Amino acid sequence: MKIAITGKGGVGKTTLAGILARLLAEQGLPVLAIDADPDANLGSAIGIPEESLRNVTPISQLKELAEERTGAEGSGGFFSLNPKVSDIPDQFAVDYKNIRMLLLGTIEQGGGGCICPEHALVKTLMKHLLFQKNDCVVMDMEAGIEHFGRGTAESVDALIIVVEPGSRSLQTAAQIRTLASDIGIKNIFTVGSKVRNEAETDFLKSNIHEQELLGILPMDESIRQADIAGVSPFSQGGKVVKAAQSILDQLTQRSGKKTQI
Ligand SMILES: Nc1ncnc2c1ncn2[C@@H]1O[C@H](COP(=O)(O)OP(=O)(O)O)[C@@H](O)[C@H]1O
Ligand SMILES: [Mg+2]
Repeated sequence: MKIAITGKGGVGKTTLAGILARLLAEQGLPVLAIDADPDANLGSAIGIPEESLRNVTPISQLKELAEERTGAEGSGGFFSLNPKVSDIPDQFAVDYKNIRMLLLGTIEQGGGGCICPEHALVKTLMKHLLFQKNDCVVMDMEAGIEHFGRGTAESVDALIIVVEPGSRSLQTAAQIRTLASDIGIKNIFTVGSKVRNEAETDFLKSNIHEQELLGILPMDESIRQADIAGVSPFSQGGKVVKAAQSILDQLTQRSGKKTQI
């Protein structure tokens, strides 16, 4: 099962990604967690200790490695768009409780669609990771789907767009949905997050097609408290973790993919 999570900033993507990674890992499945948000904090949402996170290098900052692998060094501007990447997870990931996390980091965008060795490295790595059979992947992204393109889109079993009750996050969701179906992502779902009451649930239900709405994560003050205390939302437990489990069950049913051994 390869799950990618997107949506407007602050809606609760990383919280959901962290909980899903822990729930899947608890089932005994090896999980690959990919932090693809420049505002990277998936590691702490998973509960990986601070001292382990300090040593993780974002792949996009591996300028020398990117130049070496793409053959860009001294090549007068020519380089391979298909560098070797298979050993990168072993070298640069952090392992924690059956979860292997990779930090992609940010790549400074040059003018219109420019591609540099670091881009080529990250893009090829993404393709490599998404093409692995039998792997469980949870990917935390920003409000977009730039990491996918034709070729990798069909490897995503479920794109989850997280929304809060409110028109702005629904607008962002609509834009993402269009882009995602344009590149051929098939299973596009929505999850409501930080939902306070029945009225907010009804608001989401009246704006999202029933087939697409996977579930609702309630607003829970203890999740915010956990964030303040530096505790992972998964170990905080409670109703949000329960709701995330039922979202996972729905995903299994609707995508036909395994989330249990
Ligand atoms: N269900 C929830 N209940 C209460 N607070 C939440 C919930 N989900 C997320 N939060 C809080 O909202 C803030 C943003 O969440 P985060 O997962 O980082 O969002 P995103 O990754 O979409 O930017 C954090 O402070 C987080 O603790
Ligand atoms: Mg986030």
